[in-house]
Amino acid sequence: MNVITTTDNLEQIQSQILVLPFFSDDKNLKGKLIKFDKTQGGRIKNLLSWGDIKAKYKEFTMFYTGGVDIERILVIGLGEKKEFTPDRLRSVMAIAARNGRRINCSSMCVYGYNTFGLSKEDYGRCIIEGILLGLYKFTKYISQSSGKAPFILKELKIIVDSEEQVKEISCGVEEGLILCDATNLARDLVNEPAMELTPAVFAEHAEQIASTCGMDIKILEKEDMKKLGMGGILAVSQGSDEPPKMVIINYKGNPGGKTVGLIGKGVTFDSGGLSIKSDSHLFRMNCDMAGAAAVLGALKAIAVTNLKVNILAVMPLTENLPDGRAYKVSDIIKTFEGKTVEILSTDAEGRLILADGLSYARREGADILIDIATLTGSIVTALGHQTTGIMGTDKDIIKYLIKSGDKSGERIWELPLFPEYKMQIKSDVADLENYGGPPAGAITAAMFLEEFTGGLPWAHLDIAGTATTDEEIMIYVKNPYLPKEGGTGVGVRTLYHFIKDYYDSINISKK
Ligand code: BES
Ligand code: ZN
Ligand code: ZN
Repeated sequence: MNVITTTDNLEQIQSQILVLPFFSDDKNLKGKLIKFDKTQGGRIKNLLSWGDIKAKYKEFTMFYTGGVDIERILVIGLGEKKEFTPDRLRSVMAIAARNGRRINCSSMCVYGYNTFGLSKEDYGRCIIEGILLGLYKFTKYISQSSGKAPFILKELKIIVDSEEQVKEISCGVEEGLILCDATNLARDLVNEPAMELTPAVFAEHAEQIASTCGMDIKILEKEDMKKLGMGGILAVSQGSDEPPKMVIINYKGNPGGKTVGLIGKGVTFDSGGLSIKSDSHLFRMNCDMAGAAAVLGALKAIAVTNLKVNILAVMPLTENLPDGRAYKVSDIIKTFEGKTVEILSTDAEGRLILADGLSYARREGADILIDIATLTGSIVTALGHQTTGIMGTDKDIIKYLIKSGDKSGERIWELPLFPEYKMQIKSDVADLENYGGPPAGAITAAMFLEEFTGGLPWAHLDIAGTATTDEEIMIYVKNPYLPKEGGTGVGVRTLYHFIKDYYDSINISKK
């Protein structure tokens, strides 16, 4: 999509649709619209003042100008001014873009007087995010039998009031384009069927991204894991014919500075292992690598924007399958950390591979640790599909991640790690159990992970509820810039903003 930010008057613009977001309680024409509406015979003003257009949030009205320069006008409601958020701009732009797609418009322009009071960068970024995240579809495996060319929005013009605004809005636009590319990359990876996206194939994608972005990459093979004693990931992978991989990418943008470890769960298919999942729970378990996909997406955005930070990304990748060689309930395994774990459920596999990933990130020099994982069904019970759970040992990191989520339109809520919960993962025959039972399942899973953080500042994001969506979920998660089905790309933009905005604020005094 070619994006042009311009101060041209609306009368000079050629475009198939002009998108005009309006507040329901402030429908006065302002700025460039006043003169343009006169050329339209006062049509926009009339529709607003007659009440034909109420501009309630998400309400849209499209009409034809009869002209050739701007062919259609789409007025879309932002709702009340006091309820306005940048996320509402994303949402209405997604609705506008999808309406444009419905009628095959390849060019679009948008005008908002004085950027609706948003910072210029937020304005540019949210317009792009709404459009490009909203238009995303996973069509790779649909045969184009009709011969119809896939829809492409080729040109977007953002009409602004004055020259001074152009530069900052363009920065927001550039960042938005990079973030959408990274988020849609994560969505693509999550949506790939498990038969296609094996650990080895995920590792190839990572290699390709690392080489185009000039980052160091190392891949630990099964033999390396054996030498290192990574009993967690090895146990989980035992029942699979696909060899496990541990992908490590080093991004060094701040020589001598602190290093943020990002660890993403990469289970390319979670059958539950011998504690096999029931039919309905097996559905979409190809998404169980969404944490690793979020890490890879964020890393790509960080590298492309050249942030002056150090990141150590660790992605443990494996399948979890039942087989003659599969790890078993009652097995006692030894992790890379040296701690032993009694297996109570082979379906609690994510924490075992993350345990090795966290310890390894520490060994490789990470100063703080952030992991992201589709870890528990319990977080879905607690927070539903609207909100990612966060737990950890560093209040600042948690606070900054929640703020970064806000900036991204991704809600995050903290759950407690009170010491009393630890009882549930104590074992009589090993250092730990891998399952603490149904009560507070998301919390006991996080407390298991804490055992492998060596006291470093750490936060854990449980995205089991937010990493994917479907039509049923969309009935209540009415987010127009999420796809109807499949991967959401959650975490990519949150992690990026966290690194960009708070890297310098993170206090790394080791405990
Ligand atoms: N991958 C699942 C968690 C999950 C659930 C992800 C729903 C996405 C959607 C995880 O490995 C798992 O199976 N967790 C179990 C653990 C329990 C059986 C020990 C859970 O939370 O139900
Ligand atoms: Zn599982
Ligand atoms: Zn899992």
